[in-house]
Amino acid sequence: MKPNPGINSSTFAGIKHRIWSLPTALVLLWVVVLLWGERFTYGNSVKRCLWQQWESWPTHAQPHHVLLVADPQLVDPHTYPDRPWPLSDLTVAYTDRYLRRSYRHLQDKLRPDATLFLGDLFDGGREWGTVDSSSPEERYKKYGTSFWMKEYMRFSDMFLRSWYKGRLASRAEPEGRRILASLPGNHDLGFAAGIQQPVKERFDAYFGPMNRIDIIGNHSFVHLDTVSLSAMDQIDPETGSSGAGDGSAAATASSKIWTPVEEFLQNAKNTRDKAIRHACETRFNWPASGHRDLLDPNVRSAADTSEDPNPRQPRPKVSSSQFPTILLSHVPLFRSGTTSCGPNRERGTSIPLSAGYQYQNVLTPLISQDIVKHLTAEEITMIYSGDDHDYCEIEHSEFTGRIREITVKSMSWAMGIRLPAVQLVSLWNPVAQDAVFPNSGDDNDDTTGRQATPRDTVQNHLCLLPDQLGVFIRYAQMLGLTVLVLMVRTLLHGRGRGATAQSDQKSEPLLPIARDVDPAGVQSCSSVRKDDENVATRKMGSYAHGGRSRSSSPWKKPRFMKDGDDDDEDDWGMPQSKRRLRPHLNRPGKLRFFGKSMRQVAWPVILFYIWLIWTG
Ligand SMILES: *[C@@H]1O[C@H](CO)[C@@H](O)[C@H](O)[C@H]1NC(C)=O
Repeated sequence: MKPNPGINSSTFAGIKHRIWSLPTALVLLWVVVLLWGERFTYGNSVKRCLWQQWESWPTHAQPHHVLLVADPQLVDPHTYPDRPWPLSDLTVAYTDRYLRRSYRHLQDKLRPDATLFLGDLFDGGREWGTVDSSSPEERYKKYGTSFWMKEYMRFSDMFLRSWYKGRLASRAEPEGRRILASLPGNHDLGFAAGIQQPVKERFDAYFGPMNRIDIIGNHSFVHLDTVSLSAMDQIDPETGSSGAGDGSAAATASSKIWTPVEEFLQNAKNTRDKAIRHACETRFNWPASGHRDLLDPNVRSAADTSEDPNPRQPRPKVSSSQFPTILLSHVPLFRSGTTSCGPNRERGTSIPLSAGYQYQNVLTPLISQDIVKHLTAEEITMIYSGDDHDYCEIEHSEFTGRIREITVKSMSWAMGIRLPAVQLVSLWNPVAQDAVFPNSGDDNDDTTGRQATPRDTVQNHLCLLPDQLGVFIRYAQMLGLTVLVLMVRTLLHGRGRGATAQSDQKSEPLLPIARDVDPAGVQSCSSVRKDDENVATRKMGSYAHGGRSRSSSPWKKPRFMKDGDDDDEDDWGMPQSKRRLRPHLNRPGKLRFFGKSMRQVAWPVILFYIWLIWTG
């Protein structure tokens, strides 16, 4: 616009009109809605999960914080094989962004001491070929090792980068915060007999070991590859019966899949004891070196020969019960199909029992029993599983100690649930040296009874993440509102013109003009007319008009019309004669006007949205 030397207060009023126009108001509303959907929802969700908000430990406690992530299941060509471009790429972009943002907020705000994944890191991981194998499905045969590597980088970018940004050590974990993504899911490996050995070896090489025991927060965390173990007792989807192989070639192949896991299980108690001993020696400096010297080495070795094959290194027996066992399995343990999952589940009330190609909803009773038996039922306090995508919290009444199991929700919003989530686990279990090494004290009486596993050392919190679908619905509503408002505005705009044009001819006041009597009406009416005017092309005369219609008497209609003529031309792009027709005959002009208002709103909004996406 050209500066007018005769600029006056009414000119400013005109500018004010332009800035506080309806499109501007819509843009501002959009800014608020977009900030809410792209920023505040994430912050708010995570704020509700802060540890102090829900933990209840004694004040002196220094709990260990664990973040459990289940089924991120990165969307890939396997997820929606028939989705056309660009929808397919958009789905990938939006789910990745959601995961990245939520995870970054979780790591930034919660700073978990350990981050553990419960499997199904990928959706089609099992399909991407290796040097020695390719997908059994024709449509995935073209995806090979390089594709898998890309997916591996994608996962690392998303989940390792923001984890690494935090300090490496924390108060509860001075030796370093941990991140473990080694638990495989059926989408990473396949299920039971469906697992291809090279695919399994590759996962093990990059994420493994798949079976492991770690001491985390004074608890024994057992990662167990139950998708492989399931080959030991697989449900036949056709007959519904379960049973190990019959010595056939297929049975031999499947035994190669489950045997290592079963061997790990059989040796689990030893491994756990070793891990506990190692943790005590390195972290707590137990048994204190002086303490061990108090005992006569000969006496100790004589007492220990039965268990310790190396008599030169006598070590006190450790009681694993003081470090309650927490089992992580991708597939939930067996329960009846009607076992209620509690109120936090979204779909239905229980996990249905079903099995099919490359999946099985729960482990078989035989495998569940096998696992619990080898880990000592009394020492297991919690089981965490994934796979189901929805939440489920049950108590296993079939095992002693009524072990609790929580099936963790998927973290992705593309996995069939409205509110994705992660599981927060707070551990507080101050162990006493005497209890861990019951025989290393002064009294060497035969304390045969196993020490009871401490109770209530675990507190759980379901941490819900933003409702992405709800955000999109809000955007759609906002779009509807925008179109509606601009349409009404276009109609009003036309009606106003039509009416004044008519009144000009007939010299008869019509409704919109009658409204002008009210001073407030003058404002609203003129603003409705004015705010649409194109800033770039509008002439100064209409500025003056904008001011005058406010300041001068609304009854001076003839002047009003004359003043308005100028900007009418710009807005409508119509010759004078046509403008004088009734509004419904001005359809092309109306469409043009509507399109222009839409563009006025759309451009700033789209740019702001792109910026929001770009920067986070
Ligand atoms: C683990 O036990 C040690 C020794 O009692 C204690 O200092 C530490 O705070 C405990 N940590 C947790 C997370 O319970």
